[in-house]
Parts: sequence; C-alpha cells; structure tokens
Amino acid sequence: MSAPLPGISAVVERLRAAGCVAAEEEADDMLSAAPDAPALEAWLLRRERGEPLAWIVGGLTFCGRWLHVSAGVYVPRIQSEELARRAGRLVPEDGRAVDLCTGAGAIAAHLRAEVATARVIGVDLDVAAAVCATGNGVAALVADLDAPLRARHAIDVVTAVPPYVPTDELRLLPADVQRYEPRAALDGGGDGLDVARRVVLAASGMLRPGGWLLIEVGGSQDEALAPRLRASGFGNIERWSSDDGELLGMAAQRKGVR
Ligand SMILES: C[S@@+](CC[C@H](N)C(=O)[O-])C[C@H]1O[C@@H](n2cnc3c(N)ncnc32)[C@H](O)[C@@H]1O
Repeated sequence: MSAPLPGISAVVERLRAAGCVAAEEEADDMLSAAPDAPALEAWLLRRERGEPLAWIVGGLTFCGRWLHVSAGVYVPRIQSEELARRAGRLVPEDGRAVDLCTGAGAIAAHLRAEVATARVIGVDLDVAAAVCATGNGVAALVADLDAPLRARHAIDVVTAVPPYVPTDELRLLPADVQRYEPRAALDGGGDGLDVARRVVLAASGMLRPGGWLLIEVGGSQDEALAPRLRASGFGNIERWSSDDGELLGMAAQRKGVR
C-alpha cells in the first residue's frame, strides 16, 4: 500500500516557504491532481525550484475550461481572459477568427468553445506551442504571424497576446518567469512593441471591413500603438484595464464598407 497524501496544511506550508503567493489554491490543485504521494513529492520539489504549476499538473483553467499546457510553453495568464471573452462576443456564427501568437491556444480554444460554428486558426512560431494548441483542439500552424495565411480581408476577428515586455524590463519579471518561460514569448524588443506593430499590420491585411483586432499590451503602450492602429486603417479604438487601473489590452475596428 502506498503512503497516504499529506494533508493540505503541510502542502500549503511548503509552498508558502518556497515563496508561492497563492499557496492555498496551488496546494488544492496539486492535491486534487496528484495520483499518489511519491508523485506529489516530486511535484512539490519541482514547484519549490520555481517551475510553473501549470507545467507540473499539466494545465490550468482558462475562461472556466481546462487547458493543457506542455512544459516549455508560455503559461496563459488570467489577465488575458478578458481579451478572450471580448473576442468571443465579437466572433459571428459561421465566422472566421485568427489567434496570432497562440501559445497553448488558450484564446483560440475559448473562441472555438464559444462559437462552435466558427473557423478558428492559431499561429505560433514555436513548434512546441503549436503542438500544445493542437492538443487543445485548435487548428494550429507553425509560422511567423500571418505569413502562411492567404485570407485577404476575410477574417472577422484577429486576437493576439504577443511578447510585449520591453527588453530592458525582462530583468524585472519574477525570477521563476525569467528562468523557465520562453524568452520569445516575453521579449517585445526595445519598447516592447516589435511584434505588436507587426500584428497590427498583419491584422489590417486579414480583417474584413468592420472586423476587430484585440491585442494585449501593458504599461502605457496604448499611447504608442494607437497612432499605428489609426495609420493602418483602424478606428473605434478601445482600451480596458484591471481593477487597479493597469492597461490590459486594446481593441480596434477595421474601417471600410463591407
Ligand atoms: C505571451 S505568449 C502568448 C501565448 C497565448 N496567446 C496566451 O495568451 O497564452 C506569446 C507567444 O507568441 C509567440 N510568438 C512570438 N513571436 C511570434 C511571431 N513572430 N509569430 C508567431 N508567434 C510568435 C511565442 O512563441 C509565444 O507562444
């Protein structure tokens, strides 16, 4: 007979000592997913070294649904749920959506689940991410943004959570994020907007008139991106923020008559 799983307070204590901010929730997740005590012990050791919980337990809940996240793939953040939900409300029945920089496919999977009749494609440069997204039911391509897509002005919604941390600010990210998560998922270049600016251009070519781009940015990046959006044929620019007033994302509508 194998040893019983430890009680929740013992697990919480170890996670807290390792510096986990949400020790109670993490302990709960680990205890409900661990097959036995030796597996839990191995998981705790990995977590104590700073590995993301989602890689250890195999995934996380995003917009209320379980999403598989493979080790090595960027872990979707709760702050991106608002972008996914807004996009889900904009995709029409039988519509078409493209999720650039799809990672594990969190946003694309949400769009598929919300609008079952829509065609949704995810694109990521990273093979491991595209494989992971495929495992989450997303039709995923390995590519640099829109390079392989021939959808000129035919897409209803483009979403993107690009890498948008300015290179100089990468060192300010939590140590575990810097150590484990792929740099290509985080590093947005000098002002953080290298990929975001290319996303705007790509979306401008793919979206039909009236279609929407939703993109995650932070800090005061909206100020630099808004002129780029207007110059690329977008209007109705919206921003949304966290309860603390932190910028979380922007939406913009492709101008023109349908
Ligand atoms: C911040 S992660 C976001 C992943 C996912 N959308 C999410 O919210 O969990 C950024 C992703 O963009 C991908 N990426 C970076 N540059 C790219 C490019 N030029 N074309 C396609 N994907 C890119 C990275 O591999 C990474 O998976």
